[in-house]
Amino acid sequence: MKKTIFAFSTSILVMGGFSFLLADEPAVPFGLPALEHPEDNPPTPEKIELGKLLYFDPRLSRNNDISCATCHDPNKGWSNGEPNAAGFEGKRGDRNSPTVINSAYYTTQFWDGRAATLEHQALGPIANPIEMNMSLDEAIGRIQKSKGYQERFQQVFGSEPSPELVAKAIAAFERTVLSGNAPYDKYVAGDETAMSESAVRGWKLFKGAANCSACHSGANFTDNAFHNIGVGVKDGKNTDVGRFAVSNLEGDTGAFKTPTLREIARTGPYMHNGSMETLEEVVQHYNKGGNANPYLDEEIFELGLSEQDIADLVTFMKEGLSSEDYPLVEAPTDLPD
Ligand code: HEC
Ligand code: HEC
Repeated sequence: MKKTIFAFSTSILVMGGFSFLLADEPAVPFGLPALEHPEDNPPTPEKIELGKLLYFDPRLSRNNDISCATCHDPNKGWSNGEPNAAGFEGKRGDRNSPTVINSAYYTTQFWDGRAATLEHQALGPIANPIEMNMSLDEAIGRIQKSKGYQERFQQVFGSEPSPELVAKAIAAFERTVLSGNAPYDKYVAGDETAMSESAVRGWKLFKGAANCSACHSGANFTDNAFHNIGVGVKDGKNTDVGRFAVSNLEGDTGAFKTPTLREIARTGPYMHNGSMETLEEVVQHYNKGGNANPYLDEEIFELGLSEQDIADLVTFMKEGLSSEDYPLVEAPTDLPD
């Protein structure tokens, strides 16, 4: 599929007192690569604004009480601060709400990668009986009844609201929810004072002895691949088949997508089942080599980290990967009538 690169504006980098003007660079935060947009869904400011309204609009749920932001709340790291997600009438699924931050960079969506793109992902939760529990026809019917939405869809797409266009607008909005420009980015760009000594030691462990970057690699700290790291194991068995449900490969049993670690200090509890409260707990898990099961990834093994090493790794993640420009978006107060 051909992709277009997105450029609204010229970006200005301020590094160590110097400013560079990079003409025609895509408007993404410092440290992140250029963002690719599907050729059939190029972003415009009006489309992004429409996507934002839909993202926050509870009309898309059966009881008019749940929006995307209920489970992916900008004030809670674009997740929900809970182990799993309560949706329609409080029903809970087994999986943790992942953050929407930097999901634009994933090559697949969901813990098991069952959706290819954000456009493809967006309509799933509306129809899901334990999330928003609406038929798409009903949801679109509500949007079509709204004069304000009718006008906006005409303006943006030259057409009536439809499921496909709702998905496109929401996806275009999600692609603006980005986190870069963290102390880590400045450090790797040459500013040695950008991170504390503890965070620097943590970063060296991260890419060295602690083996984290075997999977959490690149600017978004993910290889976009699926691994069984021994989470959700009971009596030696995996409680959720994970990627296996998509690939049908036995070796993918209990394997989940490597999540981004950007803004990780804000997105707990952690893991596909929300089973870990703190980053200390996460690092302890890796230190002991995960929980034994037949499909444990070969990159997961006992690490022999000291208490200081563990503290340094946690400091690196908290301090190094939290941006000064956290993408805080206020819920719109003027949803269309
Ligand atoms: C009731 C809670 C709930 C609601 C409402 C909800 N989501 Fe989610 N979302 C989840 C959960 C749980 C997952 C992970 C499910 C899985 O991987 O099987 C998820 C996954 C995602 C992902 C994939 C991110 C990744 O890391 O792969 C995106 C993007 C997303 N949701 C966006 C949305 C949008 C857009 C809406 C509104 C149309 C929405 N969600 C509504 C709970 C919710
Ligand atoms: C073999 C690949 C692999 C290695 C090595 C690895 N991770 Fe992970 N990491 C993953 C996967 C896959 C998940 C999600 C697993 C799940 O939920 O079952 C994950 C989850 C996490 C999470 C939770 C993220 C969230 O949003 O819930 C953190 C934090 C984390 N890893 C940090 C680390 C650190 C620190 C190290 C090194 C000590 C490390 N990882 C090593 C693949 C890996």
